Amino acid sequence: MKIIVLSIFVSVFCVKSIYPLHMDELVMPQESIDFVNQSQDLWTASSSWVGEMTIAEAMQYTHTQIKPSTFKEYDWGLILNFLTIPQGFDSRNQWPKCIHPIQSQGKCSSSWAFAASEVLSDLFCIASKGSTNIVLSAQYIISCDYMNDGCTGGYADLAWEFMANGVPTSSCIPYYGQTTYCPSTCSNGLEMTLYYPSMMYTYIGQTAIQAAILMNGPVQSTFMVYQDFMSYSGGIYTHVTGAYLGNLSVKIIGWGSQNGFNYWICANSLGSSWGLNGFFFIAFGQCGIDSQAISGVPQI
Ligand SMILES: *[C@@H]1O[C@H](CO)[C@@H](O)[C@H](O)[C@H]1NC(C)=O
Ligand SMILES: *[C@@H]1O[C@H](CO)[C@@H](O)[C@H](O)[C@H]1NC(C)=O
Repeated sequence: MKIIVLSIFVSVFCVKSIYPLHMDELVMPQESIDFVNQSQDLWTASSSWVGEMTIAEAMQYTHTQIKPSTFKEYDWGLILNFLTIPQGFDSRNQWPKCIHPIQSQGKCSSSWAFAASEVLSDLFCIASKGSTNIVLSAQYIISCDYMNDGCTGGYADLAWEFMANGVPTSSCIPYYGQTTYCPSTCSNGLEMTLYYPSMMYTYIGQTAIQAAILMNGPVQSTFMVYQDFMSYSGGIYTHVTGAYLGNLSVKIIGWGSQNGFNYWICANSLGSSWGLNGFFFIAFGQCGIDSQAISGVPQI
């Protein structure tokens, strides 16, 4: 019963708040954490990561834009008729060496660049069966992609368009967490080796996103973030309380099912002390997480 009430609540209220935000208030005061914990059993909130974080501080992470992707929708043809989508799938079990560690965007709204570079890094490893095992540089995208706005925000599909001109690794250009000049050599002065996606695609809807992950590996998606999300510490996230803060782009690596609830397994870029060691589960359909996803084909 609680779950039914919750899902009605969620579908009605997962929209932008009309109330003004008080930027200096705590993003998740203790009473909101208690409310999340007491009003439902799907996920738990904790103050351990948010601490005394204000709404203004939380919003430093969420300036990523959502818009319909300009990439053509992947044409599955008859594949989906013959593909059996399992109840659960986790890229970390399927390709253990290729799902790279959680990163941290710091106080920079660069989730659009992290999710894009992380997805492409994992796809290179998966498609090359581990022989091209690299972590691509989110910093290079932030500093050099003039179609986007560095630490003040960006679009996922524009990040991929930028990556199509080549991206070096993060050992060549490490992360500084701020928009810098665009480097033309590695930070140690050596020449850059660039990696490229060739084709880029949009996947629309849950089945297409599942099929894309099953066949090729992780995808990028951008969803709407509410205050309560920042305090997520485990379980299947559904929006319970708090106002809309902005958007985050994440890497979806799989899905699962628990007590009849289907959820996506996602990698965030807020460090490994956030959420479930940096990952989170979010219910299907929540806050736009599966309305569209994008990825590309690594050029090996
Ligand atoms: C939230 O609820 C969970 C599970 O009921 C509990 O383990 C945790 O201590 C609670 N956290 C807070 C901050 O109340
Ligand atoms: C989130 O995306 C929406 C839709 O593109 C956009 O209007 C909004 O400005 C974005 N939020 C932030 C904080 O960038």
